[in-house]
Amino acid sequence: MRMTVIGTGYLGATHAACMAELGHEVLGIDVDEHKIAQLAKGEVPFYEPGLPEVLSRGREAGRLAFSTDFAQAAQFANVHFLGVGTPQQKGSYAADLRYVRSAVEQLVPHLEGHHVILGKSTVPVGTAAELQELADSLARPGASVEIAWNPEFLREGYAVKDTITPDRIMLGVRPGGIAEQVAREVYATPLEQGIPFLVSNLATAELVKVSANAFLATKISFINAVSEVCEAAGADVTQVARAIGYDDRIGHKFLGAGLGFGGGCLPKDIRAYIARAGELGATEALTFLREVDAINMRRREHMVNLAKRAVGGHLIGASITVLGCAFKPNSDDVRDSPALNVAGQLSLKGAQVTVFDPQAMDNARKIFPTLHYAESAEAALQGADLVILATEWDEFVQLDPTQVRGWVRTPVLIDGRNALDSSRWAEAGWDYKALGRTF
Ligand code: UGA
Repeated sequence: MRMTVIGTGYLGATHAACMAELGHEVLGIDVDEHKIAQLAKGEVPFYEPGLPEVLSRGREAGRLAFSTDFAQAAQFANVHFLGVGTPQQKGSYAADLRYVRSAVEQLVPHLEGHHVILGKSTVPVGTAAELQELADSLARPGASVEIAWNPEFLREGYAVKDTITPDRIMLGVRPGGIAEQVAREVYATPLEQGIPFLVSNLATAELVKVSANAFLATKISFINAVSEVCEAAGADVTQVARAIGYDDRIGHKFLGAGLGFGGGCLPKDIRAYIARAGELGATEALTFLREVDAINMRRREHMVNLAKRAVGGHLIGASITVLGCAFKPNSDDVRDSPALNVAGQLSLKGAQVTVFDPQAMDNARKIFPTLHYAESAEAALQGADLVILATEWDEFVQLDPTQVRGWVRTPVLIDGRNALDSSRWAEAGWDYKALGRTF
C-alpha cells in the first residue's frame, strides 16, 4: 500500500520506517527541513535501538522517502497517518493542538478524491471529531476526507518492536466509512499473527490511549507512595512490590519504585487528561491524577534532600556524580527527565555536579549547559563524595563496586532506581542507600 506519515518526530519517523518494513510504500512528511534532510540521508535524529537499520532497509528497497511538500503528499497516497507532537501548552495543563490542526490545514486543500487520515498523535478526547469538521471545511469540491483515530502505544527504547508487533491495534472510526478496511490492509501482517484489533467510535479510541498512560503513571506513583510509607515504617518497597506483583491481577510491571516517571508522554498526558475531563464537566473524575503527579514530583525533591543528608548536610562544594540523565535507559530523551531534574537542582543548590549518560548528554547540555558532563562513567566518578544512580542503564548496573570504590573519594551511593544489587555494593564497602528502603 502507499501511505504518507505526517510528522517525523519520534512517533512519525518510527511509524514511517516500520510501515516500509511491513512492505508498504511510505512518504514521510515534516515541516522541519533539517529533520527531513537527515532522515532522507538515512540518519535517525534521535537514539532508538534498531531504528537506523529499519530506516536504511526501507530506503534501500526504495519504499521509504521523505519530503516537506504537502502537495506531494496529497499526490502520493490516499492514506495519511498523522504523527505530529501534542506538547503541553505553556501556562496550562491542556495539550497544544496547533501542530495537528496545522497538518490538516496544510494537507487537505491539496487533496483530490477520497482520502483517509489515521491520527496517531495522543490527543484530548473530541479532537478527531473537531479535525473532521476542519477537514470538511477545507476540502475542495469533489474531495472528501475521513478522519479515524489509531493511537500508538510504543515505548521509547522498544519503538520498532512495539510498532511492528504491538500488543493491540486500536481504531476509532465514524460509521459508514472505509477506515476500518484501510487499517486492516495496512496492518495485515500483525493481524495475521493474531494481534487483537479493536474498533470503536472516535472518542473511545482517543480515551483508550490517555487512559492507558494514566494507568501506567498511577501504578508508578502508587508504588512510590508506598515507598514513602516504607521509609517511615522501616520497610523495603522492593520487597513489597515483588510480593504484591505475584498476584496476577496486580502484576510486577511498572511497580519499579524510585525517581518516578518522566519523558515526553506520561507527565503531559495525565495533565492533558485532567484538563480535558474538566472541560467536559467531569471535574472530579480525575482529581486523583493530580495526586499521581504530585507524588511523582515529590520523588525528585526527596532525592535532593537525601543527597544533602548523604554529604553531611551541605550541598555547597560537594562533589556529586549523577549517573544517567535520560528519562529512562535506552533513550537519549531528556524531556521532563527526573535524572536531569535532580542533577540540575543539586547544581543550583551549590553542589559540583558531574553527569554521565551513554546517549543523552547532547540533549542534556542544551537544557543544562552549566552541569559538568564527563566523557565516561569512570571519568565522572573520579573524586566523587556521593554517587547517584538516576537512570538504570545496563552499563551502570554492571559496574563493579570494588573497582568504582577506587575511583570515588567517599563510597556513598544512592540508588535512585532500585536497580543495583544492594548486598554486592554494601559488601564492597559502600554506604548504599536507596529510595523506599532502610538499611
Ligand atoms: C509511555 C508508555 O509506556 C507507552 O505505552 C506510550 O506509547 C508512550 O508513553 C507514549 O504515550 O508515547 P515511554 O514514555 O517511552 O512510554 O516510557 P515508559 O517506558 O512508559 O516509562 C515512563 C517513565 O516511567 C520513565 O521515566 C521510567 O523510568 C518510569 N518508570 C517506569 C518507573 O519509574 N517505574 C517503572 O516501574 C516503570
